[in-house]
Amino acid sequence: MSKKETPLFPLRKGQHTRQAHVDLPPGTFEEEHARQGFYGRTTHLYRLHPVTDWTRIEGPLRPHSYDLNGLKPSADEAIRASMFGSTEAAFAPICLLHNSDVALHWVVPSAMDFFYRNADGDDVYYIHAGAGKLETTFGALAYATGDYLVIPRGTTYRFLPDATEQRYLLIESFSEVTIPDRNQLGPNAIFDPAMIDTPELEPYDATPKEWAVHIKRENQITKVFYPFHPLDVVGWKGDLTVWRINVKDIRPVVSARYHLPPSAHSTFLATNFVICSFLPRPFEEEEGAMRVPFYHSNIDYDEVLFYSAGHFFSRDGIGAGMVTWHPQGIHHGPHPKAIPLSRTKDRTDEVAVMVDAFRPLHATPAAALVENVNYWASWK
Ligand SMILES: [Fe+2]
Repeated sequence: MSKKETPLFPLRKGQHTRQAHVDLPPGTFEEEHARQGFYGRTTHLYRLHPVTDWTRIEGPLRPHSYDLNGLKPSADEAIRASMFGSTEAAFAPICLLHNSDVALHWVVPSAMDFFYRNADGDDVYYIHAGAGKLETTFGALAYATGDYLVIPRGTTYRFLPDATEQRYLLIESFSEVTIPDRNQLGPNAIFDPAMIDTPELEPYDATPKEWAVHIKRENQITKVFYPFHPLDVVGWKGDLTVWRINVKDIRPVVSARYHLPPSAHSTFLATNFVICSFLPRPFEEEEGAMRVPFYHSNIDYDEVLFYSAGHFFSRDGIGAGMVTWHPQGIHHGPHPKAIPLSRTKDRTDEVAVMVDAFRPLHATPAAALVENVNYWASWK
């Protein structure tokens, strides 16, 4: 995200509110038309109809929704064609959406008897369901539902999940993943860096055995074999490592008087995309302040939302384990029931992960397999 450019002119025409998202002219619906996500030049349009009240859409530019519940590796041709790398039974990420900056995968792992190394990018896992132990070059880390695991490119690792159901969203980043500047919020806001956990070294396993490391480079797997356990690191120093933060330890910034944009919920940054976490929080309390996301044409970003837990107040008919994808160029906004519903509630208990991608995303055959093809009509 680049810095806001100098405003050209604060023009106003017709009916409008001076303060965005507050006290809309009666009978109007606010649309935000903005550049650079929520950072750039912005105009608010006051319309007589929700901009999502279309009767039909012809052509490829439709909002999409996918139900990932039940999606798992199989011999299905569409699923095989969407595995961009490892196809081992224990670890076969199924890609759903991708571009040259980021790829989103669904991972249903079991205990791996080999190690994996991604030479294409950083791996950010969101643990939607399950728990276990992650073994890495830097040591081992216990993980549980709601964790983000950040694994830098080139790290050797494997999952040893427990016996419960395992469902992970993998956000593969082809650039280095960092965290946003806290600026005036201070270094301990949103999450305190002291809440981050890093791996602990374990005693070396000297059992003689052949071990395999499966390396992914340009989505092709190379298998390297060793006569010793590949995690033979007995010490390390530095500032590049695997780390973990749970969404429970992320404390969202809110305003009682103003609906903050999604960018206020940014958790990770990378080149040409951002990962945000929408977490349980109170709604705006001032009369007249909007409580639901405004209609918008986020014209510079494709927006992907993964719904993990709670009630998704702005989306009717969307449940845990589902994904929506709103491509740039077509509007989106709250579902019709969301606006009156938000007036009856004091808070949201949603847990959702958003990926905003600067370049258009492309869906895989696996995504098509689990698509709700009528999602475009869900605002009716
Ligand atoms: Fe949006």
